[in-house]
Amino acid sequence: MNNILYRSRQKENLDKDVLNFLSSLREDVNIFYYDILGTQAHCLMLNKIGILTSDELSKVLYSLNKIKYQSKNEGTIQYIISNELSFEEDIHEQIESIVIRDIGIDIGGKIHTGRSRNDQVVLDIRMKLRDDIMDISEDLISVIKSLIVRAKEHKDTIISLYTHLQQAQIGTMSHYLLSYSFNLLRDLDRISSSFEKINLSPLGSCAIGGTGIPIDRNYTASLLGFQGLLENSIDATSSRDSMIEYLSFLSILMTSLSRIAEDFILWSTSEFNYIELSDKYSSTSSVMPQKKNPDPLEILRSRTSIVIGMLISSLSIIKNLPSGYNRDLQDLKPLLWNSSKIVKESLCIMQGIIDTFKVNKKNTLYSANKSYGVSLDIAEQLVMKYNIPFRKVHKLVGQLVQYAITHGNIPLDKTPQDEVNKMLNSSKIKIDLDELMSILKDIKPKKSILLRKSYGSPNPLQQTGMINSIEKSLLTYAKVLTERKELLFTTINNLDNVILNTIGDKGN
Ligand code: ARG
Repeated sequence: MNNILYRSRQKENLDKDVLNFLSSLREDVNIFYYDILGTQAHCLMLNKIGILTSDELSKVLYSLNKIKYQSKNEGTIQYIISNELSFEEDIHEQIESIVIRDIGIDIGGKIHTGRSRNDQVVLDIRMKLRDDIMDISEDLISVIKSLIVRAKEHKDTIISLYTHLQQAQIGTMSHYLLSYSFNLLRDLDRISSSFEKINLSPLGSCAIGGTGIPIDRNYTASLLGFQGLLENSIDATSSRDSMIEYLSFLSILMTSLSRIAEDFILWSTSEFNYIELSDKYSSTSSVMPQKKNPDPLEILRSRTSIVIGMLISSLSIIKNLPSGYNRDLQDLKPLLWNSSKIVKESLCIMQGIIDTFKVNKKNTLYSANKSYGVSLDIAEQLVMKYNIPFRKVHKLVGQLVQYAITHGNIPLDKTPQDEVNKMLNSSKIKIDLDELMSILKDIKPKKSILLRKSYGSPNPLQQTGMINSIEKSLLTYAKVLTERKELLFTTINNLDNVILNTIGDKGN
């Protein structure tokens, strides 16, 4: 006979290599604290329904609190390693073993009544993700705020806008920065919405089919601050779709950040020289002394691929699983923890870069001036002045640009007047030559921004409108976040107090 906790049927211990292969103990450091809290709530409920006497409850809670505080002092991973009993497959088994070792099997052996590791592990995951969602939402709000600060600074900073990476139209730096504020606002909306699906309690679903113990699922859910229950015990223990949804939202967020990274990498090349990253956010070369490399942005770009990879792994882990808990599900956990960690770090790096990058306004303007990005503005002015079909003007301006490019990239208004006249004659458009020449002279990048006033355009007035609407939305999300945080903080605090009161003098 062995005395190993869960091996009641087996005559032999688990092979050592198999244990190493199976065990999630080390990675479970991420849910260690939540597992204790969940067990404490479960034991309070067991007391409420008469499975644990008040004296037993107080001993159990005290023992669990000791684990909580000792691990805090020692460092959780250190605590896990130093308390390893050479047979535990995961943190649930380890914590139960420590309690039994501490207060004996007669009392400690009762704590797993009416639950299974299958509902226990999802409970822990959900509690951890709840916190991750709030942390990431908070970080995202900060990044969006930083984008707005920089946008306010650069309402009049001219830059070229690109399509196909070719100069397209004239824009403003604020317009660019705000485009990602809107994008990240949607990321915030997605991630924030996943909270509702995650914040439901699976506890009490037991292994798959519920329990004969008259448990009170609502009681444990409310002690732990859940909005409600996952109603169906099969669904509660074996589904992971809400976690995968969370991972997919993180992947989408990372792709947004990665696109900003890509722009900044490009813009900080000598060829563009639109922006300069702060020294704090750039690396160098071991051999080329002149180098200033955007390594943090490159790492962010590759981490995006890693997060996407983890989403794909999680989908593949799930897709062929029969209903009910399967051990494959264990491998989903590190994918969640690692993705959350990468996203938090990436947001922090991105915020620092946004806060500190310098815009080389002279260069952005120079490049816009050299481009033919005003071509469409010229065409549109002609359409409005002469009410001629756009398609005809498109051709005329196209010919002007063609001439300018083949004659040394001259500005459009430096096209010889007789050449312009020839083009006008062959196009059969009735436009006054002098007026056309003065339009060519007049419509330069700065002017073009003022002329383009359509809703959502780079026009400075439009920027003000956008800033206002983003700031308004941010306030709403920040309010929801604060409410969630306060509610959870108060709930967990209350739970701690109930535990301390139950323990009484022993706790001091
Ligand atoms: N370590 C497991 C996990 O992370 C806990 C659940 C194990 N349940 C089981 N029936 N083997 O998923």
